[in-house]
Amino acid sequence: MNKSSYALITGATKGIGRAISDLLMEQGQSVIGISRNPDPSFKGQLFLADLSNSSSRNQVFKEITASFPIDRLVNNIGFNQIQGLPDITSQYYQKIIDLNLTVTLELTQAVLPSMLALGHGRIVNIASRSMLGRKNSSVYAAAKAGLVGFTKSWAIELAPSSITVNCVAPGPIETEMFNRNNPIGSPARKSMLDAIPMNRLGDPREVASAAIYFLSKSASFTTGQTIFICGGASISQHHF
Ligand SMILES: NC(=O)c1ccc[n+]([C@@H]2O[C@H](COP(=O)([O-])OP(=O)(O)OC[C@H]3O[C@@H](n4cnc5c(N)ncnc54)[C@H](OP(=O)(O)O)[C@@H]3O)[C@@H](O)[C@H]2O)c1
Repeated sequence: MNKSSYALITGATKGIGRAISDLLMEQGQSVIGISRNPDPSFKGQLFLADLSNSSSRNQVFKEITASFPIDRLVNNIGFNQIQGLPDITSQYYQKIIDLNLTVTLELTQAVLPSMLALGHGRIVNIASRSMLGRKNSSVYAAAKAGLVGFTKSWAIELAPSSITVNCVAPGPIETEMFNRNNPIGSPARKSMLDAIPMNRLGDPREVASAAIYFLSKSASFTTGQTIFICGGASISQHHF
């Protein structure tokens, strides 16, 4: 929002996080990203950390917040493992909860002092249409629904400080994560396409443009909201 402040985005080098970063940088905004691997094509400042590791993430959050005034945060990173109810393991349960919810909580707590000091802020959480229910992804669905709970509760707590908190819930978007979980030609991919009224996958930039609105100065009276960017999948009668 301010040329001397920064937007911080987790999972910034690929997919939806990359599209949000690129759109912000096209507007002349300063972007800090986090990912595990270096990416020379990323034009913002990139910090490397595996956010599934508690000590690595706390260290990188400290390092970033000590050096940069941050007034926009996109909690974009997430993780899913396709598992039916009888097959859910505690290992994957924990990983899905950590990468979708715990990282979001800890990073938001780390960035909050900077937003309070600046007197304004924008937080965007990336959930998923899957929160409405999805076969073989119940832990992911629960974690993404939990992000909506975070969004609404933090929106109420932070409204008096001019910090807004909103949520973007994408449907199937063609990214590396999507292709890994739904390989081309797989029945899972076909049933998803069948359940999307627009009958196509989304593009990361179609999700990014909604996040850009929530991050903008003009969204100053919008808080606690969730927008589905899903080609109509959230209102379809078909399930995937
Ligand atoms: N794609 C979809 O269809 C879809 C639908 C609904 C919701 N979503 C949600 O949208 C968000 C982004 O998904 P996406 O599909 O854009 O993912 P993606 O294309 O796989 O990109 C993931 C990004 O996160 C980074 N990353 C992954 N694991 C990491 C870790 N442990 N620590 C640090 N960085 C890590 C990756 O870089 P490195 O590999 O270098 O670490 C990359 O920059 C997620 O929350 C996802 O649940 C996606």
